[in-house]
Amino acid sequence: MKIVVNGAVREIGSSPTTSLLFVLREELGVTGPKAGCQQGGCGACTVLVDGSPRRSCLLPVGYLDGAEITTVEGLGTPMSLAPVQQAFVHHYAAQCGFCTSGFLLAAQAYLDRGGTDDREAIIEALGGHVCRCTGYVKIIEAVAAAARGDTFDLTTTAPGKYTTVAGGAR
Ligand code: FES
Ligand code: FES
Repeated sequence: MKIVVNGAVREIGSSPTTSLLFVLREELGVTGPKAGCQQGGCGACTVLVDGSPRRSCLLPVGYLDGAEITTVEGLGTPMSLAPVQQAFVHHYAAQCGFCTSGFLLAAQAYLDRGGTDDREAIIEALGGHVCRCTGYVKIIEAVAAAARGDTFDLTTTAPGKYTTVAGGAR
């Protein structure tokens, strides 16, 4: 069977009952989706399947022949971040980053279906995603900023620093 991962057709050798999460990480080396609870409860493994956010730990790959899978690697590149990724950077919405790819893909799906900066709607869209670091205020602010179409000057963001305050890290 084949799946399409971030635009590339990939032949899958794992058995049909293998989870999509395992296939992505262990067979294909696509490690953006994180193995958190592996029981559907944390959202860290979320990817887009034909545009919809799905928990890859719960999906047997055998059901996905021909499906289009988008992981965080398909959203943007380090030198060309997607707007929602820029928003997460600017609003300091990630700390350890373990949950972040899942949040980003849920957020991207929300934006793709016309989501606004309405706080309650964002909370609903991100429901079930768990972050152990940041709390949720900054994540919600980031998604709202992306929904508004805010633009961010990230030129002051120094790699490895912890703030995007104009003028660089303090
Ligand atoms: Fe899939 Fe937690 S690892 S929901
Ligand atoms: Fe660490 Fe969310 S940034 S778990």
